[in-house]
Amino acid sequence: MKLNIALLAGDGIGPEVIDQAVKVCDAIAGKYNHEINWTPALTGAIAIDTVGEPYPDETHEICANSDAVLFGAIGHPKFDNDPSAKVRPEQGLLKMRQKLGLFANVRPTFTFPSLIDKSPLKRERIEGTDLIILRELTGGVYFGERGRKDNGDTAFDTMTYQRFEIQRLAKKGFEMAMKRSKKLCCVDKANVLEASRLWRETVQTMEKDYPEVEVSYEFVDAVAMRLVQWPKDYDVIITANLFGDILTDEASVISGSMGLMPSSSVGSKVSLYEPIHGSYPQAAGKDIANPLATVLSAAMLFEDFDLTQEAQAIRDVVNKSLAKGIVTEDLSDGGKAYKTSEVGNWLAANI
Ligand code: IPM
Ligand code: MG
Repeated sequence: MKLNIALLAGDGIGPEVIDQAVKVCDAIAGKYNHEINWTPALTGAIAIDTVGEPYPDETHEICANSDAVLFGAIGHPKFDNDPSAKVRPEQGLLKMRQKLGLFANVRPTFTFPSLIDKSPLKRERIEGTDLIILRELTGGVYFGERGRKDNGDTAFDTMTYQRFEIQRLAKKGFEMAMKRSKKLCCVDKANVLEASRLWRETVQTMEKDYPEVEVSYEFVDAVAMRLVQWPKDYDVIITANLFGDILTDEASVISGSMGLMPSSSVGSKVSLYEPIHGSYPQAAGKDIANPLATVLSAAMLFEDFDLTQEAQAIRDVVNKSLAKGIVTEDLSDGGKAYKTSEVGNWLAANI
């Protein structure tokens, strides 16, 4: 297969982890006879510094005309501590999600056999966890009306959802559940929020189209507690943008490290693959960040092109590296810590 992939390294550790994913993908392409053309493009703080815009039109053109986008990370501390900054790197990510129509963010949570004891959670709670959080990505409070009033003393952000936005996300959730354990949980705050009541109402009316799927409705505060206590109770979770943002960081604790969690963002056309972690600026340029979340995101990319063997080969070599202790310092536990680039080289060589 011939694949044109836009390569958006972004900020902080982004370029370093992206480099390793490219090595791994190129190794896969070599082994299974595919041709990958990478087209790098600017995004994030680096794009602001270079062209004054976190998601330039030129980058959008490249993404929109590619088969897929592989993305690193976005964010820089110089903007975090300046609430008055007019342009922020994160706006680039939001604009990209919106302009590419990436309304569903797929964030799987699973455990790695060799890392079960790295999680602060007890082995018996988490062993065998296999769930997917399907986060709505282009609506809700992230994109609702916001502003200031009363001379700046009052600020507001609004959570707005339209029925069709919930329907298209829920449809993906139902379809995903059908291919898995046929369990779908709609996570909301319907005891308080009107937008959440629309979520519940919409999902309830869709239940009849998927009679085999067992649907449950839970409040997000309760799920925040139950997710780390009884993760095995969940299969597919659908939820609004902000709730999904929070719950997926929480869920990463189950796997043992943020540095391991991949994701895909899908919509109508081109899909985007990115680690769920941020730009980790403290580690930037030090060659110490864990590249596995990005590498596993690349596995999701292959999977989506029905290249199942290729995806499995990536997951297998990642598991092998973890079992052999070829890991970065976040997972080395006092043992030898490998560099980001060394982990990438090892993975590529072992493919
Ligand atoms: C994520 C991140 C982003 C989000 C930030 C960087 C804007 O936390 O992808 O989860 O909030 O969506
Ligand atoms: Mg987040």
